[in-house]
Amino acid sequence: MPERMSRKRNWVLSFLLLVALLIGCGAFLAWYKFFREQPDGPFVSNDERFMYASIGGENAAGLPYWIFLVLPRMFPEYLPGPGGYASLGIAWEEGRELPVGFTKKVVGFPRVSNTCAVCHTASYRATPDATPVFVPAGPGHTANVQGFFRFLRDCAQDPRFNPDNLLEEIKRVTDLSLLDQLLYRFVIIPLTRKALQQRSFDWMEREDMAAWGHGRDDAMNLTKYFMLEMREDGTYGPTDFPSIWNLKKYQPERGMRMNWDGATYNARSVLIDSALGIVAEPQRDFLHHIDWLLDYLSNLPPPPYPFPIDQALAHAGEALFTAECARCHRSERTGKRVPLTEVGTDENRILSWSHAAARAANAKALELGVQRRGMIDDEPLNGYIAVHLDGVWLRAPYLHNGSVPTLRDLLKPAAERPQMFYRGYDLYDQAAMGFVSAGTVAERVGNLHDTRLRGNGNQGHEYGTGLSEEERQALIEYLKTL
Ligand code: HEC
Ligand code: HEC
Repeated sequence: MPERMSRKRNWVLSFLLLVALLIGCGAFLAWYKFFREQPDGPFVSNDERFMYASIGGENAAGLPYWIFLVLPRMFPEYLPGPGGYASLGIAWEEGRELPVGFTKKVVGFPRVSNTCAVCHTASYRATPDATPVFVPAGPGHTANVQGFFRFLRDCAQDPRFNPDNLLEEIKRVTDLSLLDQLLYRFVIIPLTRKALQQRSFDWMEREDMAAWGHGRDDAMNLTKYFMLEMREDGTYGPTDFPSIWNLKKYQPERGMRMNWDGATYNARSVLIDSALGIVAEPQRDFLHHIDWLLDYLSNLPPPPYPFPIDQALAHAGEALFTAECARCHRSERTGKRVPLTEVGTDENRILSWSHAAARAANAKALELGVQRRGMIDDEPLNGYIAVHLDGVWLRAPYLHNGSVPTLRDLLKPAAERPQMFYRGYDLYDQAAMGFVSAGTVAERVGNLHDTRLRGNGNQGHEYGTGLSEEERQALIEYLKTL
């Protein structure tokens, strides 16, 4: 019967429409709650953008903001001391919601990720009571990145990391809607825990490997094991966070190379590889962030020495620099590799990278759809770069592994350099040029650097060590002007 049939058809149509509507709503809700992106910011200056703006790490590698916020309160015993994340020595400007180098962006829900600034922002203070000055693109010599990894790992392994406890703690700081509570309970918390547990950190916990400590990481092994998923090879190459200002000084066409061992041709490649380490999966605007960073870092001048300089003494020091240092640090050799057999510093960083790893990194970048000149697999990687010395006053502790606390110590024969000292305190020592590396505060906020341990050696680079005390003084004064 036509009437009944058409009624039936109407009914089927309505039903289908309802199903479609429900699916649509569900899809919209899922998109809204998990993928909707809100731009972060606004950022009033380039420096602020460098220190806090997202480069896209929240999507694939972000931590839910509320979980990030409550973890230090729930698990203070997994941090090196009181004070929450600040106990990890990460720079934290007063009045800021998050430390330097930490971003907050809504991708469905608020998430936290990192930027370059967590390792590449320096802090110093003139007196113990002064508020620290933060210098973007300076070496993050106070940041304990290994401590941060260990903290997340230990939290995720603790049975108290569960929806009941976390939601209880989150309730103290915010009112999540009922729907959000359900999402946190059944999706966000379990997935976060799983993601944190999936990463193996065993490779950085071997007994024959000293702690990275403040201001360093095992950079090439991080790349090999986290990004490239290569097999452990037993090497250990702890390396100091370098300054990354004034990148336009590098001229690849003149044979200059980047990274401590000259493993990379140019700044764009280094930036891309560094950013891939943070974001895991490049987003649509990935290269836009790279272009901005490249422009900002290329043109950012090194910070001038902020304390008084004795100009006459510095002038006398310049002649000594020309005689003792310029043949590497202001010549055709600058920015190029000096063989390890010549400079004689610790070899472990060099041993931690290889042509095979470079090829794997290049293949990985291509797989992720990023075109770049890439890492070097056709030159011997057998030395360290004779680094440019711009802004050298703020780059303590010195050498690629941060094994010499001050410039005064670097100008002594290796046997007379401190065998043990503390890294991570930001009180500046104007006489020695470096950070205070002994005493109760240095011990409390920092970590012991024992130069006898693998990767920590302070040998080699014995240049200018024959100078008299007056000459050394003059050379140090001159180095303040660079
Ligand atoms: C977890 C710490 C960490 C983060 C995050 C990080 N870097 Fe680095 N960066 C390092 C270390 C360590 C080195 C030295 C590696 C080596 O050669 O041993 C380095 C080297 C560099 C260099 C080479 C400097 C030179 O003079 O050769 C540049 C440039 C650089 N990073 C830029 C960046 C940028 C841009 C980002 C963000 C997209 C970033 N880094 C994120 C730790 C970090
Ligand atoms: C034969 C070449 C050569 C000479 C001469 C030389 N250097 Fe170096 N310098 C290097 C190399 C190579 C490195 C990197 C070594 C490393 O990190 O293991 C370096 C590193 C440094 C660093 C560490 C920079 C940092 O950011 O940690 C300082 C400071 C330095 N040199 C100052 C001097 C001074 C001052 C003189 C003169 C008294 C001098 N150098 C003479 C080759 C040289």
